[in-house]
Amino acid sequence: MHYRRAFVRHFQGLDIEMAPFISTVSAERINPKLLKDVLPENNSGLPLIPQLIGNKADDFVQMSIALHDLGYGEINWNMGCPHKPIRKKRRGSGLLPYPDTVDALLDQVCDRSPCKISVKVRLGVSDPSELMTLIPVLNQYPLSEVIIHPRTAEQMYGGSVDLDAFEEAFHALEHPVCYNGDINDLAFYQTVAKRFPAINRYMLGRGLLANPFLCEIIKSGTPTPENAIERIVAFHEDVLSSYEAVLHGDHPVLGKMKEFWTYQTIHLSNGRKMFKKLKKTQRLAPYKAIAAEFLADAKWVA
Ligand SMILES: Cc1cc2nc3c(=O)[nH]c(=O)nc-3n(C[C@H](O)[C@H](O)[C@H](O)COP(=O)(O)O)c2cc1C
Repeated sequence: MHYRRAFVRHFQGLDIEMAPFISTVSAERINPKLLKDVLPENNSGLPLIPQLIGNKADDFVQMSIALHDLGYGEINWNMGCPHKPIRKKRRGSGLLPYPDTVDALLDQVCDRSPCKISVKVRLGVSDPSELMTLIPVLNQYPLSEVIIHPRTAEQMYGGSVDLDAFEEAFHALEHPVCYNGDINDLAFYQTVAKRFPAINRYMLGRGLLANPFLCEIIKSGTPTPENAIERIVAFHEDVLSSYEAVLHGDHPVLGKMKEFWTYQTIHLSNGRKMFKKLKKTQRLAPYKAIAAEFLADAKWVA
């Protein structure tokens, strides 16, 4: 949430944000701490869609009521998370092979949820045809959007996205479809946009974390800004001071900042070496010295 807020202060081009998933819990366990990431006072100013992960209709509906009370009109159901412990419990992508379960859940949830429902899916767990079997079920419900990440869960984030499978699913779905996966540069965005001119919704993940200018570049068609490094320096200072203001002690701040650089070093000419050194730091003072030293020399590599 601190990262997202800082991001929006420094970079343009995003229309909507989706918050990291929140696990559904029973009504008595819903509290402000659980919903901290989506409390309106913590928002960045962009429209936000909260996301839930779970497989209990009652819990989902109670969470939807709580989010509606906070002012949200739409929530996303994560049926795409590929992580084994989650999918083994038939949550996230673990629901994809069970169309009857999804049918029963959507029947309850769409009837009782005060928020509109969108879903995020993958092609399947191991079998990429699972989504096609699920689509007739999805088509029965008034979903506001289906976001497709065209990989199987077993692929995790490796291998390539399957644009043929995406095309088949897109044509079979009667809902607005959003494309997600591997948009890491303007060229790949253009490849997808050219092949699917009817798609006008894109969700960006790792590519945007690595290159925060990406939405500006895609929307304006212009190359990376000349002052890219200065803008990254300013963004880094903002993120760092935001965490320092709310976390106590060097350790938790460093944990967040090491996460920050996981992707943010990818387009820096000296990023690999910088990340290696930063990862070893145990105190904020040397961390700041190393970041300043490397950023002073860094060039942006598009
Ligand atoms: C560390 C990490 C955390 C993620 N958390 C979420 C999440 O909470 N909700 C979600 O829908 N997707 C989540 N994703 C998946 C991304 O939203 C996206 O679907 C995936 O990275 C593929 O898109 P990309 O190639 O643009 O990154 C996460 C991905 C990563 C790597």
